[in-house]
Amino acid sequence: MFVSAFVRSSSVSRKYGFLLYRITRWFLPEMIIELGTGMGISTIYLSSGSPETPLHSIEGDRERAALAAQLICRCCPGPVSIHWGEMAEKLEHISTLIPQRFVAFVDGNHHYEPTVTYVRKLMERVGDESVIVMDDIYWSRGMQRAWKEVVSWPEVRVSIDLFHMGILLLRKDLRKTEIKIKF
Ligand SMILES: C[S@@+](CC[C@H](N)C(=O)[O-])C[C@H]1O[C@@H](n2cnc3c(N)ncnc32)[C@H](O)[C@@H]1O
Repeated sequence: MFVSAFVRSSSVSRKYGFLLYRITRWFLPEMIIELGTGMGISTIYLSSGSPETPLHSIEGDRERAALAAQLICRCCPGPVSIHWGEMAEKLEHISTLIPQRFVAFVDGNHHYEPTVTYVRKLMERVGDESVIVMDDIYWSRGMQRAWKEVVSWPEVRVSIDLFHMGILLLRKDLRKTEIKIKF
């Protein structure tokens, strides 16, 4: 697929990109984790919101990872590391680095099993508060099932269903709440 076609079909839109930017800007996490770099468009939005924060992004496609690295070098003010390789393996590698207060954007391998496994892995690291954003929660039956399942976990205190994306707030003092917003 041509680069422009991939960016159009698989990268975050401007609207959702700004949302990612606002989330990292509001939350100022100790680390940003991205599962699925693609061409690096969402990486740039995430990093721009909190430029001091280290960002680790995982991408399995070598060519895309290389192109994203070039773009990120030009556009990202912050410290960004692209990890090229299989998602589960790379997530395992970086998991010991993940602090208790992070923002994660889960946007790769849109199937039930891997999505639930990645979110579960991220949750092992959660301290008092963290935010996990899942993309394409209605993309397939598998993704809908994955979203429904993670929302039911007790660690997820507030879930916000925006249709294209879902946001999970893990702050322990929040009351269990499920919110749907026409965004
Ligand atoms: C939707 S694209 C990411 C788009 C990007 N987050 C953005 O909005 O700019 C999903 C990416 O996940 C990667 N991916 C899918 N399954 C993967 C796997 N098992 N391991 C590593 N990368 C994977 C694909 O190569 C693809 O580039």
